[in-house]
Amino acid sequence: MSSTSENDSSSDDFEPLVQAGHVICSAEAVKDQDEGFRFMVRTSDIASKVGSVDHRIDETLPAFVIRYDGQVHAYLNRCAHVAMELDWQPGQFFTLDKTALICASHDAQYLPDTGECISGPCPHGATLIKLDIEEKDGKIFLCQAL
Ligand code: FES
Repeated sequence: MSSTSENDSSSDDFEPLVQAGHVICSAEAVKDQDEGFRFMVRTSDIASKVGSVDHRIDETLPAFVIRYDGQVHAYLNRCAHVAMELDWQPGQFFTLDKTALICASHDAQYLPDTGECISGPCPHGATLIKLDIEEKDGKIFLCQAL
């Protein structure tokens, strides 16, 4: 896997647009059950992996990566209840006890490793839209579309 863009910014305000196959951030930027890293993706880059995204219009959408139990997970930053961003402060996705991801708008909670809704107003069986990522050589990559 090659990388032509390094997005290792530590700035909270910088949300890089990450193309498939490129680096999202350094592995050390995402600590276990701690602040997430926000980035942007184009639906044309992720559409073949994310069936529920309407990719007829090529949009740029917010996304984030977190680490839970040592593993990294990335999702579109879009609640399954209403299409709003989850974080209650930029990069803050975990509940206070760090066991779930929580939406700031109406408190829907999701399992950090699968994105499955476990409480709140999100529909039964709903999940966050998960993105394929890979941690390799000290970096976290957005996987190439299949
Ligand atoms: S928008 Fe997330 S719980 Fe309502």
